[in-house]
Amino acid sequence: MIQVICPVCGAALAPQGAAWRCVQGHCFDVARQGYVNLLTVTQKHSRHPGDTREMVAARRAFLDAGWYAPIAKTLADLVRRFCPAAEAVLDAGCGEGYYLSQLGWIPERWGIDISRDAVRYAAVRDRSAHWLTATAAHLPFADGGFDCVLCMFALTAGAEFFRVLRPGGIFVQVLAGQGHLPGLKSIIYPAHVEKEKMLHPALPGFGLLHTQTLRFSFSLPDAQSVHDLLYMTPHVWRITKQGAEALAQTAQLTDTAEVIFNIYGRQEAGNLLE
Ligand SMILES: C[S@@+](CC[C@H](N)C(=O)[O-])C[C@H]1O[C@@H](n2cnc3c(N)ncnc32)[C@H](O)[C@@H]1O
Ligand SMILES: [Zn+2]
Repeated sequence: MIQVICPVCGAALAPQGAAWRCVQGHCFDVARQGYVNLLTVTQKHSRHPGDTREMVAARRAFLDAGWYAPIAKTLADLVRRFCPAAEAVLDAGCGEGYYLSQLGWIPERWGIDISRDAVRYAAVRDRSAHWLTATAAHLPFADGGFDCVLCMFALTAGAEFFRVLRPGGIFVQVLAGQGHLPGLKSIIYPAHVEKEKMLHPALPGFGLLHTQTLRFSFSLPDAQSVHDLLYMTPHVWRITKQGAEALAQTAQLTDTAEVIFNIYGRQEAGNLLE
């Protein structure tokens, strides 16, 4: 069983009625949808950190339409192959829960996200998993409990992932590749020259076991799905007025997804400095 810890004092948290409490008396309510908000005020850099409700709703519509089903399938295949006996998995930056909810054969599934709207959507999607509002930078879990940590298009907090994984556990990092969504980018940044990305970052305490690239095309049939694609990418934070206007004129879009899957193995603590 995974041990959740208090984000204030680090003591164990235990469910007690409709709340979770630690021995020091810190108390966190279980929301009606079943998730728990463990994000403290000091861990927030804004009132509503992470993806907005509009972004979460767009991601939900886009993913449920199945456009990224090949990513979910590749993820499931890799988790089965590299962690066949997984008992507990964590999805850090889980968004609205699409990917984690498809790993239903793993007995304990935990998703955390800094966006309360994302976690609320995830909790409604899948009541058989555990969902927390929390930051990947300070994971509210005791050391060494997880067999597998996923991080899909989200912040890689390598030291925290190392801490909560058991020795020999795996970290699955999923990144947008250099050739991800060229069609969308050519509309919103017509003069943009992409800078080189780090596709296989070295992570202290981890060894890279496997990497593979998934490429597939998809054709969005209407303006709503084009809008949803933009809103589920980080481009929505940096799009210019001209880019937004150009995209609003786009009624259909055929594009290519290029996604990198890196599987890292967590080494024994003694190997850390090698
Ligand atoms: C691009 S989205 C990916 C969501 C999901 N993994 C998916 O692929 O559908 C990135 C997610 O990371 C979350 N996020 C941003 N900073 C975070 C942090 N410090 N800790 C946890 N989640 C964070 C955002 O709220 C957002 O849901
Ligand atoms: Zn406490």
